[in-house]
Amino acid sequence: MKRRDFISGLAVTSAVAAAGQTGAKPGEPMQIPNPSKQVPRVDHAKNIMICSANGYSYIDAGFEKLRGGADTLDSAITVVSGPENDPNDDSVGLGGLPNEEGVVELDACCMHGPTRRAGSVGGVRDIKNVAAVSKAVMEHTGHVMLVGEGATRFAVALGFPKENLLTDRSRRIWLLWKETHSNQDWWGPGLADPNWKPPAAMSSNVAPSDMELVKSQPAHIQKLYSAAADLGIAPQDRMDAIHKVLYPPTGTINCSALNEKGEMSSVTTTSGLAWKLPGRCGDSPIIGAGCYCDQDVGAAGATGNGEENIKVAGGHTIVENMRHGMSPEEAGMDALKRISRNYNHDMTRLSYLNMFYYILRKDGAYAGVSLWSGRGDGPRRYCVHDGTRRYETAKYLYEGVAKNWPPMPQLPK
Ligand code: GLY
Repeated sequence: MKRRDFISGLAVTSAVAAAGQTGAKPGEPMQIPNPSKQVPRVDHAKNIMICSANGYSYIDAGFEKLRGGADTLDSAITVVSGPENDPNDDSVGLGGLPNEEGVVELDACCMHGPTRRAGSVGGVRDIKNVAAVSKAVMEHTGHVMLVGEGATRFAVALGFPKENLLTDRSRRIWLLWKETHSNQDWWGPGLADPNWKPPAAMSSNVAPSDMELVKSQPAHIQKLYSAAADLGIAPQDRMDAIHKVLYPPTGTINCSALNEKGEMSSVTTTSGLAWKLPGRCGDSPIIGAGCYCDQDVGAAGATGNGEENIKVAGGHTIVENMRHGMSPEEAGMDALKRISRNYNHDMTRLSYLNMFYYILRKDGAYAGVSLWSGRGDGPRRYCVHDGTRRYETAKYLYEGVAKNWPPMPQLPK
């Protein structure tokens, strides 16, 4: 008997013993004690997918697979591998923004509802389709999570091609950060430190033309602009690159899928926080934080500041909230409130954070909830497909825009 079979045998024995204590019979969904509220009973499930807004261009392909009877996880991976393969999408996969050493390190995890399995990879270099690699960990190993060099070697053994993930575009943005970041790296006290202080204010002038606009900026933005020009970053991309240098994005795409049989899966993939310390893993590869799925209840995934989401185990918290009768929106809002509570609702610190949850319940009810509302002309959105592909506006905890200091000029659409 293999060691893991032996362990599985023990697990079954323990589960039967536990079932005896709770009154559940083997094969029946676990019941919560005294369920005053429960997940609605589902007689007819439906095909539906939910994902972050950056999946909009790719969700059609995933939904076609789902409608055609493909597995829910395969359909969701079809969606997220779109931006993973796109060299111009700098949030995930090929062309993702790198760590502080200029090396792209990717994280991903997945959960397969029908078989109640999970897979995860963290800090993977040179392999762009890490969502599929996380599924391969689930299918081809007795482990749940592989990280670093071992994860890359595993992917190569499985036939995933090795390539340099740093594109010319992402390299130039990294160089802009490298040459100008000075005291804005991730060393030193973080937002959670009691001694943290916000940087000093800058002018909020927004000029109509690019040149006027740059002149109106404080000296350090003007310096960044000319450095971006020196690095060969195209004029139309310069302010976007400056924004990424000043406010390192966390990228990420999550997608959950439900089919007509009531099967569900979820997957999250990311290049993680731009300019991170090598080896940093955010929430995306953490089962229960960046993604969680239990098809007795539903699925939830996240984009935003991984450090905050790990601390509230967002994906798992939301699914458990729904198990106890909350709607998808209530369940997500509760997780956002836990993040706010972790900062004693200090709005100065919270204004530097982003968090967005994508929630799908087993009956097809769904919600997208965001810590911040976004601008009036650009509210936070997510993407849904149930036969009709559409953006939907997120519910939010706080009115306003994250990271709204210093005020930045309007970015090109
Ligand atoms: N949510 C993605 C990350 O923090 O890495």
